[in-house]
Amino acid sequence: MIHSRLESGKERELSTPVYMNSGFGFEDADEMEKAFRGEKPHHVYGRWANPNTDEFVQKMCLLEGAESGFATATGMAAVFASIAGLLRSGDHMLVSASIFGTTQVLVNDWLPRFGISHSYFTAAEIDRLADFVQPNTRMIYVETPSNPGLEIFDLQLLGDFARRNQLILNVDNCFATPVLQKPLQFGAHIVTHSATKFIDGQGRVLGGIVLGDAAPMQQVIAFLKTTGATMSPMTAWILSKSLETLELRMERHCSNALAVAEFLSHHSAVEFVNYPGLPAHSGYEINQRQMKNGGALVTFGVKGGKENAVQVLNRLKMIAIAANLGDACTIATHPATSTHCKLSADEMKKAGISDNLIRLSIGLEHAADMIDDLSQALRF
Ligand SMILES: Cc1ncc(COP(=O)(O)O)c(C=O)c1O
Repeated sequence: MIHSRLESGKERELSTPVYMNSGFGFEDADEMEKAFRGEKPHHVYGRWANPNTDEFVQKMCLLEGAESGFATATGMAAVFASIAGLLRSGDHMLVSASIFGTTQVLVNDWLPRFGISHSYFTAAEIDRLADFVQPNTRMIYVETPSNPGLEIFDLQLLGDFARRNQLILNVDNCFATPVLQKPLQFGAHIVTHSATKFIDGQGRVLGGIVLGDAAPMQQVIAFLKTTGATMSPMTAWILSKSLETLELRMERHCSNALAVAEFLSHHSAVEFVNYPGLPAHSGYEINQRQMKNGGALVTFGVKGGKENAVQVLNRLKMIAIAANLGDACTIATHPATSTHCKLSADEMKKAGISDNLIRLSIGLEHAADMIDDLSQALRF
């Protein structure tokens, strides 16, 4: 990640410069024609690609083991393009029930307007996935670990199922990052990321990326070049630099998360703890096979319902209250009243969201400081 960068120029600069331009010039009309026909590699226009987005995509392809990729303006642009670029009106998709709230709104409210229907399945229903397949099913879409339920979906099982049924397996790998989990190795065809989260890791920019096998990516890239949700050169430069430290940061995020999860699981004011790195988690065995460790998110339920959960949030001193995750600072969220507030009661239940649930995005501070803050907030 440090050395797989664009070649340096005559200044021998140690970081790739930012190419803050929208257009690119040509030697002559013939060169321009060849570039537009794709017969000569040459940047054409910033909506298509730019040296900084190229570098970021190249690094992400290396990390995920992908053949091709396209950097997008946000994570949601990546999620939308990974579906809309590959499906058409009349198609049906299987979607894991526990997904990011905005993705659920996309699936429920917007995709049906373009004739794309869906069926949700839970991790407990994965062994009878065949019952959900319809003649027009084309794609399986999953998040693992899921936001915020931290449900684990067996990627090997899904990869084999997708191959047997000629379905596209599309995985949102935002929570794990390619440092912890590489879905393409298990048979996924497409991987998406909100680069806004751990890939940036410092809460500075919005970004996303779609990666995958060359054939489906050709369509996704054509869709994105046309619809225009492209990443800016400045954002690509920041994210490319962030990748230099992603592995180190994830190690610290995850060791902190395990320490916090262990602390919470022994606390008398805590009803339950959800962390895929604890043997008590229902997806622990599967997670051991597909992810390096339990990740950087921990959720827990406060005894006494919503009232006490809100009190815990209001008492926090160091830990921030926000909707974001994957930042250097630890963040607490109440999904039922924020990130997932648009879901119905039934959808919330299926997504593993209760009124007393707090989601922690574990940061890079000392674990002892997080535990001190949680200790004082959990005094009842
Ligand atoms: C799992 C997951 N996927 C996608 C997104 C969307 O990313 P963005 O906010 O960058 O559009 C988020 C945002 O929280 C997320 O948590």
